[in-house]
Amino acid sequence: MNSIAVYSSKGGVGKTATAVNLAYASAHRGKRTLLCDIDPQGASSYYYRIPIKGQFNKKQFLKGRFKKYIQRTAYPHLSLLPAHFSFRNLDLALDPEAGNELKKIFASLKDDYDVLVFDCPPNMTLLSENLIMAADQVVMPVIPTTLSIRALAQSIKLFDKIGAERKKLRAFFSMVERRKNMHVDTVRSYRKKKVFFKTLIPYLADVEKMGATREPVAVSRPGSPAAVAYDRLWMEVWKRRV
Ligand SMILES: Nc1ncnc2c1ncn2[C@@H]1O[C@H](COP(=O)(O)OP(=O)(O)OP(=O)(O)O)[C@@H](O)[C@H]1O
Ligand SMILES: [Mg+2]
Repeated sequence: MNSIAVYSSKGGVGKTATAVNLAYASAHRGKRTLLCDIDPQGASSYYYRIPIKGQFNKKQFLKGRFKKYIQRTAYPHLSLLPAHFSFRNLDLALDPEAGNELKKIFASLKDDYDVLVFDCPPNMTLLSENLIMAADQVVMPVIPTTLSIRALAQSIKLFDKIGAERKKLRAFFSMVERRKNMHVDTVRSYRKKKVFFKTLIPYLADVEKMGATREPVAVSRPGSPAAVAYDRLWMEVWKRRV
């Protein structure tokens, strides 16, 4: 089982759009995939039209009693663990001395899935630390602007601080707009650095429209530039898995 955390300390950089479309690409290419919506905003669950069932909340999740709340999506090989509003307090329930509680919890799924994708909330907290430790690979969307590059530098610092291996951190440029000089210049300066994937995700209306279609772009707009870009990103993520 390979786990991939789509993470950034910055909000609104395209984490959920990426998690939703990467998980779809993984499943479409035949991997038994579980998308874990760890963000209490529940956007991934919303995009896949998955409601929360029964008594699911952070207590069940942290006790590792969450398998029965996993739901199938409309697509082959793809399931989803929905987020719950109580996840907003996950940080308070985690042991600050441990750092690897979530890694242990997710390890119980190793025979059931080939790929786990975590849609992480925008934070730099104990929960972020747990998600980074639980992941084999951390995929970070970076909008080509100063503050996003700064968030990448801060994440590298966080990796060092918590003792996570830097080699499992990979970034890609997200929401790239070719008509903006700053985007073009930033991509040009950083793209060849080892930490970056080659694939970049352009700013495309089809991704924005996912809020209305509530489908991955490869379903709502098969063969579109957005669908092709996410599939290409998935191939790179899979190829460079640690
Ligand atoms: N490549 C893209 N092109 C156009 N719009 C995009 C793209 N990626 C994301 N968006 C839009 O930008 C907004 C933020 O994206 P998203 O929700 O994926 O970010 P996020 O990092 O998960 O945010 P949060 O930190 O709140 O969880 C959404 O409205 C989304 O539809
Ligand atoms: Mg999100």
